This record gives sequence, structure tokens and C-alpha cells, in this order.
Amino acid sequence: MQLLDGRALSGQLQQKLARVTETLKQQDKPLPHLVAILVGNDAASHTYVRSKIKACERVGIRSTLIRLEENVSEFSLTDTISRLNADPSVHGILLQLPLPPHLPADVLTHHIAPEKDVDGFHFINAGKMLKGLPCPLPATPYGILLLLEHYRIETSGKHCVIVGRSDIVGRPLSVLLSRNHYPGNCTVTLCHSKSENLSDHCRSADLLIAAIGKPNFIQASMVKPGATVIDVGINRIADSSHPGSFRLVGDVDFNAVAPICSHITPVPGGVGPMTIAALLLNTFYVAGYPQ
Ligand code: GUN
Repeated sequence: MQLLDGRALSGQLQQKLARVTETLKQQDKPLPHLVAILVGNDAASHTYVRSKIKACERVGIRSTLIRLEENVSEFSLTDTISRLNADPSVHGILLQLPLPPHLPADVLTHHIAPEKDVDGFHFINAGKMLKGLPCPLPATPYGILLLLEHYRIETSGKHCVIVGRSDIVGRPLSVLLSRNHYPGNCTVTLCHSKSENLSDHCRSADLLIAAIGKPNFIQASMVKPGATVIDVGINRIADSSHPGSFRLVGDVDFNAVAPICSHITPVPGGVGPMTIAALLLNTFYVAGYPQ
């Protein structure tokens, strides 16, 4: 079994981007500028946004964090996004999801100018992705593609089973992995909460991607020996050895599954850091510096 080390690859990509930043500085070119909007007090979202901002600092690009109260109105948030859309010093806008229930995530996501949509969530960019046109790709799927490519995992003709059909991960991945190039050319099965015979589907996968947000959901009996397993889950569960604190576990029961598969991503240190690297690549992309 080989570990797919997202932390190491993300580090390499960030070093490369730091060198690009240095070159931009020497050439007196504007540095990419990412603005992240964080609404409310969701603990996981705070952690994610903090790591995104820190990553911008590590590679030397500009970043701004806008924090808004949990009870911010839709009008006020729309106005904030409008101002960022009109600000030429801002290249990328990221609205961290999930939003509090009174805010319509779809409407607000689509209010971000498509050319500043670093997440690739806008329907214009989703449409471009579907058609194989250049656009920012959603960061988690993009990070997974980079990981598969780096480790030269064969995907052509393989059966890829994705568990979870979210707009952010599962559904875009199903499009990207069925495209006619590498990594891609998979036969894709997109499973979800209503799928019958889920274990059978999973067991037929050469490439199994778990993105359902249920700790240790994928058991060894659901994995074909020799499969590649990608674990997108980042679940916080109470840490019994340290009362009051938590630890991160994936959607895959790592200890049970690792011995039977050919490749697997750890949690933490797998897909999570790759999502950050992909977001940085998207930030350079929307700033006009495709890498
Ligand atoms: N929430 C969980 N993942 C993401 C992501 O990739 N982008 C945004 N904006 N919110 C998220």
C-alpha cells in the first residue's frame, strides 16, 4: 500500500507558487489578491478559512479576511460582494460555505463575478467545466486530480465510484473523472444517500472516493483489494483520550482499509492540504497567472 501524501505534494506546489510570486515582484506585476468572506461562528469553517489565509501568506500573495456576524442580512452580504466585484485590486472572492440557514447560498454564490469565482462554484464556471473549457475548478476535486496525476494513478477505463453527490465535491468530480483526458476517462458511478446496494457499488470500484461526511463509513468489506481509495472526509469526533478536545477522522476506516488497497489518502494530510494548494492555483489563475 502506498500513501498518497497530500501534505507533501501541497508543500511542493506552494514552494513553486512562492517562486512565481518572487518573479512577479521582480517584474513589478500586481500580486494575486484573495478575499475570503466568513459568516458566523462555525468552528470548522474558521479553521478552514484560517488555513487558506495562512497559505496565501506562505506563498507571499495578498489576502483579506472579511468576517461578518452570524445574523448579517442577505442585503448586506450582497452589498459586500458587489463592492468586491467592483474592486480592481481584488482578483478572487471566496464565500466560505456553509452559510447560516437564513442566507441563500446559491443566490449569494452566483452574485460573485464569475471571473473572480476562485471556487469555480458559479454556474458559468460549472458550465465551462462541464464543457471542458478553461475555468477555475472546484478546489477539492481539482486537488484530487493533482494527487492522482502526481502519483501517476491509472484512471483510463477504470471504474470510479464516488460516494456523495455534493455540489462542491462529488458531482463536479463525477464530471472531471469522466472527461476524455488524464486523469479521467473513468466509468463513473455517483452514489448517494438513496443508492441501493451501496456496498456492492463500492466493492466494484478501482478508484473509490468517499465524500459523505460520515466518520469511518467505508469499511474493508466495501473495498476491492488493490483499489485506490481517496478519503475526502474531515470529521471532528470527540477524542476520548483528551476530554473536551476532538480529533479528525475521514469517511474511510483507514486502519481496516489501508492493508487491502494499493493507494490511500490519510486524514489529515491527504485531500485537505491538496484543497488548499488547488485554491492557491485558482487564485493565481483568476489573477491572470495560470500555472
Ligand atoms: N466549504 C467546504 N469546502 C469549501 C470550499 O471549497 N469552498 C468554499 N467556499 N466553502 C467550502
